Amino acid sequence: TENKTTGQVQCLNGHDHFMHKEIHEQPAILSDLNGHDDQWCQMMAQMPDAMVKAQHISVVACGTSYYAGMTARSWFEKYAGISISVEFASEFRYRAGAIRPGRAGLFISQSGETADTLAGLRHFNNHGCPTIAVVNVPTSAMAREAEMAVPTRAGSEIGVASTKAFTAQLATLLRLAIELGSRNGTLDTKNYRRIRREMEEMPNLVREVLSNEHIIKSVTSLLGDCTSTLFVGRGDCYPLALEGALKLKEISYIHAEGFAAGELKHGPIALIDENMPVFVLAPDTPLLVKTSSNAREIAARNGKLFVLTDDDEAAGFKGEKGVEFIKMPPCTEDQIPFVYVTALQLISYHAALDRSADVDRPRNLAKSVTVE
Ligand code: G6P
Repeated sequence: TENKTTGQVQCLNGHDHFMHKEIHEQPAILSDLNGHDDQWCQMMAQMPDAMVKAQHISVVACGTSYYAGMTARSWFEKYAGISISVEFASEFRYRAGAIRPGRAGLFISQSGETADTLAGLRHFNNHGCPTIAVVNVPTSAMAREAEMAVPTRAGSEIGVASTKAFTAQLATLLRLAIELGSRNGTLDTKNYRRIRREMEEMPNLVREVLSNEHIIKSVTSLLGDCTSTLFVGRGDCYPLALEGALKLKEISYIHAEGFAAGELKHGPIALIDENMPVFVLAPDTPLLVKTSSNAREIAARNGKLFVLTDDDEAAGFKGEKGVEFIKMPPCTEDQIPFVYVTALQLISYHAALDRSADVDRPRNLAKSVTVE
């Protein structure tokens, strides 16, 4: 396949689709992102003081990049001590008064060309506030116009549904959060080293999920001809639930919504009946007991549970009939997004194939949206 923009010829390397190839490239990309220490040193040395000292960062993005921002919010809060708001670029650009002195803007974009995100960046530049663009295309408009550009190094992404660019964004944002935290004194050396070690383990954890693809494929086939699905999670799994739902609707055209598990009882639980598959993101963290009690409420209303967990006993449904498990490798809190999103990508890929959808070119969607 020839990429019309770059003229480069892209090969499937034995995969049936670019999306599949790109999902499987993630371990190698994550390994590569663990390097580049010299560039990080340089970037941090050049980082504007106003950015390091920012009281608040507005993260502005669209689509999957927006969910990368939502996932990264807790990293900036806990490791860099910076308060964060995550904004849809299409809304943010029209919010007069959203930009104040002392604020910085962080723009996340695979293409670096998305019209709304670029408008948000220009808005910040016009106010003289510091701007950082986390982009996959180093020659893009955002990379050129931001005060500082941080590359996500995922290589060109052909599948319209973003996969490897998302995990590369996550790894880059986690690294940025810990570099900022060590620079501003919030993160001590011991914890910095621990997180770097956990990042080193991520490629293998993602490989483990990929090696279970056949299991994920067979569990996904149980979705049958359902027309609507829910994804629920707590903490860092909430943005992942949103991303899992976005991925599924984008390429399989099954209606899907993501919810914070604790919000179910405030409305969405009314949707649950025997025709509603619910994907529950239930890693073994201190929040698991709460998530599994929400899953119980779904089961009590005959919802069909698909539980992604590393501990089916702790999740509280071991051996229970009618509950499907997708076994995940045990991982630390910060590794969860990388590991669980890989499973979610495979779920949507196989659900789309089951419905003979064109996974690389879903209807009505564009890879890069350069109009409003
Ligand atoms: C389009 C793509 C999505 C992407 C979004 C943001 O809608 O189909 O996959 O997440 O744009 O794109 P960006 O290039 O700014 O990350």
